[in-house]
Amino acid sequence: MRTIAVAGASGYAGGEVLRLALGHPELTVGAVTAAGNAGSLLGEHHPQLVPLADRRLGPTTAEALAGHDIVVLALPHGASGPLAAALPADTVVIDCGADHRLTAGAAWSTFDEEPHAGSWPYGLPELPLAAGGRGRDALHGVRRVAVPGCYPTAASLALAPGLAAGLLEPDVVVVAASGTSGAGRAVKPHLLGTETMGSMTPYGVGGVHRHTPEIEQNLSAAAGSTVVVSFTPVLAPMPRGILATCVARLAPGAGRPAAGDVRKLWAEAYADEPFVHVLPDGRWPRTGATVGANTLHLQVALDERAGRVVVTAAVDNLTKGTAGAALQCANLALDLPETLGLPLAGVAP
Ligand SMILES: NC(=O)c1ccc[n+]([C@@H]2O[C@H](COP(=O)([O-])OP(=O)(O)OC[C@H]3O[C@@H](n4cnc5c(N)ncnc54)[C@H](OP(=O)(O)O)[C@@H]3O)[C@@H](O)[C@H]2O)c1
Repeated sequence: MRTIAVAGASGYAGGEVLRLALGHPELTVGAVTAAGNAGSLLGEHHPQLVPLADRRLGPTTAEALAGHDIVVLALPHGASGPLAAALPADTVVIDCGADHRLTAGAAWSTFDEEPHAGSWPYGLPELPLAAGGRGRDALHGVRRVAVPGCYPTAASLALAPGLAAGLLEPDVVVVAASGTSGAGRAVKPHLLGTETMGSMTPYGVGGVHRHTPEIEQNLSAAAGSTVVVSFTPVLAPMPRGILATCVARLAPGAGRPAAGDVRKLWAEAYADEPFVHVLPDGRWPRTGATVGANTLHLQVALDERAGRVVVTAAVDNLTKGTAGAALQCANLALDLPETLGLPLAGVAP
């Protein structure tokens, strides 16, 4: 058995890490920490985590997190960098935040005011790479992993096969709706039920959302050249889930492929990926089918009249979009079977 500590355990991502850790045959939950809620019982924040209800949240310090095999950081933007620097080099540290995702400091500075904390191996195992291989190749045995953002997980896996194959122009549009848990648990007036129920709204419009450079980084790695992304997030009246609609023109050299051949390209790219499901022809992704599962469901369509490929992808932002990815990467880092302890079946309806 390995021990896992979770920093940010009172939050949404931390709670989902704990739920999955409880079902993982090789993990024992150690320290659970928070900030303002330190000192309270975990059961007050996550009544669903019955076996851990009597655990008391500690302060989030390097000392409290020491002595574990795995430390998951599920902290607000900018809080992971300084803490991670104080953790032992031989501990597997998995950062669910954005602090260590970008390889280019310049891309970070365009979207963030805090100093760039540096880049860690990127935790998207299924990402096809132009250089050959997949994202997982860089994750075996590592001691630091940056878990992807939830939107980048959906958009990157949706478009990467077409860019890697040269089928798509490297200039793509992504519009993605997310449930409100994607914004975390801290109280914000625009996330109140009264504001979100029965209403949808875009935000971060005009290419200013900080997930934009992360999606570009991933798709450029898949294409082998620079990919430009126009990304618009949308807040949807549901607690969890992302539905991403990703559109790209056919590359000039792609000719006039048949719709079936386009779909086949994605199906073949993910045929051996247990967590990425290209749905049968005629079925469309729905967020509800991925709730609680470490899966991404996608479908590919050719819009022949417009000369574009449209890929729709559904993912649970808290599972494959964060906590499931975190444990998938921990499995790889510890040389355990990649799928160990991770749910394939969602909770529906
Ligand atoms: N939510 C998602 O769908 C999602 C998806 C992908 C990635 N992520 C990333 O995961 C991280 C956590 O997100 P979340 O949605 O779980 O946020 P959240 O629900 O707001 O939880 C934040 C957690 O961090 C603690 N915290 C707050 N300020 C802190 C500080 N200065 N130092 C140490 N701990 C502090 C909070 O403790 P208190 O309760 O005591 O305040 C809470 O436990 C973020 O970086 C987010 O970008 C989230």
